[in-house]
Amino acid sequence: MVHNVIIFGATGSIGNSTISVIRRNRDRFRITGLSAHSNFTKLAHIAREFGVKKIAITDRQKFTSERAESLFPAGTVFLFGMEGNCELAVDDDGDAILMAIPGTDGILPTMAAIGARKTIMLASKEVLVAAGKFITAEAKRLGVQILPIDSEHNAIFQCLAGGEKFVKRVILTASGGPLRNHTPNQLKSVAKGDALRHPTWSMGAKITIDSATMVNKGLEMIEAKWLFDLIPEQISTIVHPESIVHSFVEFCDGSLLGQLAPHSMESPIAHCLFYPFRERTGSPSLSLSEIGRLTFMEPNYELFPCLRLAKTCLNDGGNMASVLLGADEVAVEAFLAEKITYLDIYRIISETLSSYTGEREQTLDGALKTISRARSVAQALL
Ligand SMILES: NC(=O)c1ccc[n+]([C@@H]2O[C@H](COP(=O)([O-])OP(=O)(O)OC[C@H]3O[C@@H](n4cnc5c(N)ncnc54)[C@H](OP(=O)(O)O)[C@@H]3O)[C@@H](O)[C@H]2O)c1
Repeated sequence: MVHNVIIFGATGSIGNSTISVIRRNRDRFRITGLSAHSNFTKLAHIAREFGVKKIAITDRQKFTSERAESLFPAGTVFLFGMEGNCELAVDDDGDAILMAIPGTDGILPTMAAIGARKTIMLASKEVLVAAGKFITAEAKRLGVQILPIDSEHNAIFQCLAGGEKFVKRVILTASGGPLRNHTPNQLKSVAKGDALRHPTWSMGAKITIDSATMVNKGLEMIEAKWLFDLIPEQISTIVHPESIVHSFVEFCDGSLLGQLAPHSMESPIAHCLFYPFRERTGSPSLSLSEIGRLTFMEPNYELFPCLRLAKTCLNDGGNMASVLLGADEVAVEAFLAEKITYLDIYRIISETLSSYTGEREQTLDGALKTISRARSVAQALL
């Protein structure tokens, strides 16, 4: 079980849920470091509440211009930028990191923490989508455990319970997001507010838009490939609007195991924090009779064409997933800034993927360059 935790993305949605779990278990965990981008007020509040003295910040300019230093307790050590995040990741006081920085900025600090043999509690799926080959190889080499926080992967991890070699396939469940009941024609007029209105989960903006397009599920399928060492044919997805079953594992003897829990990210976060033990978390019991019925259906690819693109990337085995990631980041940023329409997200990803020439980067640096190239192509398409 981990005791001393460094939280990256501490002021976000996953950060909030993590801090709630730790607040209820203050005698079990210590937060030894915090990282965020620019929400200094909130970061300082958490630092004061938990007595955290090491803080990494990526928006250095805003930090200086706002004189944010005065918000923090005396004696706080500040680290800045990517270098600061990597330094915090290897800090001796922490025995585990919780990585919840959206996008690819979580890759280098995660790699640094693996190098320092810290347990990794991983929420940022982009880390494995873009760099899964390098991250998982290094973790294996150094005997570092990666505990999945993404609810689907946490569910699979719980169902596996050591039975990895008997797995036939995994089935990731998907809520279908806020646009599940739209017609393809209605997608033409989807506004930012419509796509941000997720029916079951409350999350950051990027992942909520990715849920609307189902790019998120595609990224999760790629994440599952690296995390559980599966081949693409072993990974599928099914729409399950109630979001009660978080994923299934089918074993070679035909048994299908699913993990059910109320839809709160506190549940997988607590599972990782307490692993390999289980503790009372105060989570409400599921009332199956109140839920009454659980439904499952195949994804409609006419409504979710991005999911088809993501599946192509899953099958590629090269760097296509990194191209998808870079293009999606640019497209979602532009959609959130109301510079492009909802359907443009698909167009930009699809056209950026068409520019991919099949290169297979052999280094982490090469993989990061692929993302950066994909971002440039996507920017030009905006
Ligand atoms: N939310 C969920 O339920 C959920 C579920 C599964 C997986 N995930 C994954 O977890 C990650 C975080 O998601 P979220 O929903 O918590 O995001 P979020 O609410 O947008 O929070 C993002 C956090 O990361 C910080 N941040 C943003 N950009 C950064 C950068 N370049 N460098 C350092 N810190 C940065 C933010 O700081 P500021 O507040 O200062 O901007 C904030 O603390 C994503 O990869 C997502 O896919 C989330």
